Amino acid sequence: MEKITFILICHFGLEKVLKTEVKRLGLELGEVTDGEVKAIGTLFDIPRLNFNLRTSERVMIEISTFKATVPDELLENAKKCEIEKYVPVDGEFLITKANQDKNSILKSSQANQKTVKKAFVERLKKVYNTSILTESRGKYPFRVKFNKNICSIRLDTTGDSLHKRGYRIKSGLAPIEETLAAALIKLTDFNKDKILIDPFCGSGTIPIEAAMIASNIPPSVDRAFVSETWDVIPKEAWKEARKEALSNINQERLNMKDIKIFGFDIDSNMIKIAEDNAKRADVSQMIHFETCAVKDFANMKCIENLTNGIILSNPPYGERLEDKDKVVPIYKDLKYSYDNLNKNDKTFDMHIITSFEDAIKYLGKESKNRKLYNGMIKTYLYSYLCN
Ligand SMILES: C[S@@+](CC[C@H](N)C(=O)[O-])C[C@H]1O[C@@H](n2cnc3c(N)ncnc32)[C@H](O)[C@@H]1O
Repeated sequence: MEKITFILICHFGLEKVLKTEVKRLGLELGEVTDGEVKAIGTLFDIPRLNFNLRTSERVMIEISTFKATVPDELLENAKKCEIEKYVPVDGEFLITKANQDKNSILKSSQANQKTVKKAFVERLKKVYNTSILTESRGKYPFRVKFNKNICSIRLDTTGDSLHKRGYRIKSGLAPIEETLAAALIKLTDFNKDKILIDPFCGSGTIPIEAAMIASNIPPSVDRAFVSETWDVIPKEAWKEARKEALSNINQERLNMKDIKIFGFDIDSNMIKIAEDNAKRADVSQMIHFETCAVKDFANMKCIENLTNGIILSNPPYGERLEDKDKVVPIYKDLKYSYDNLNKNDKTFDMHIITSFEDAIKYLGKESKNRKLYNGMIKTYLYSYLCN
């Protein structure tokens, strides 16, 4: 079967985490650039990647990459793209987004989109020997990215971004994306037997993603993808990939009586939302959610006998939720509770993602940190390690 190069999109700074996921799925890795990981596979990997990747936002097929500094160059190169491999004579093809860097001569993303559309119309009319393209079936969203005069044309196989798993119908004001939450968990030494506590759990994203990772529940098997209707991907490929993904679920861990994942939040409405979200993700039996202020969580009955594990959390940043002064007591309370939790030889590591510049002033010097982007916000993951 013909080899395809995939371009997998992820949050800046999390390329290594995504690479590990791709390797586990058995695909050959290609070039890695900011926020993008390339992988080599076949059409059969489209469902596998979309169902299983936890930290990627989107799975795209690389159609062509070429230099273009004048519109004619873009037009002629776009005409050479063999899009008929994917788009049938009546297929609807869109140029959805044209990422544009400031260093390219062809600056107008709208104009570039138009040129590529024109080239594709001409190409399809010619190869299908028709004067009319009805564009009435399926959806084939192409994207055009320019970087330093190099144009990359891709075909999106995902549709709605992969962070939209489907379980989070409600959330608070500043939920963390599911893909980022999964990546944070993978940056810790979390495994199916580890305790994980999120003292600012909000809508429950971190505990829910942790439960899905612990029990190997595929993140996106129950949602729709734009490429599901494409003739070029055999229906069998979707069926087989779904079967494979579901067969990997660790039923024993899923049904284990001992609860190892905990989510606390001061807001009881958020706890209700988190519980509902966990139910929709089929992991509610694996997580204990409870209303609790951060200053009290170390004394919660449900965790009193636990001696080691991980705190992983996304506290208010003072950016989107409250202003800076209001978050200071929250960070002081977190430090107080963390120290309290680690009394009597207990060893809990702590990982906190925040954009609050004074975080370490209140939490203490971190063992290590990592710069990450939460959407457009520059954040750091501060890690406090016991060993
Ligand atoms: C950035 S949000 C967390 C979002 C969460 N990760 C999600 O995906 O929905 C911060 C959360 O901290 C909670 N919070 C604020 N002050 C708190 C406190 N003193 N103790 C515990 N939770 C608090 C808020 O109710 C909010 O849900």
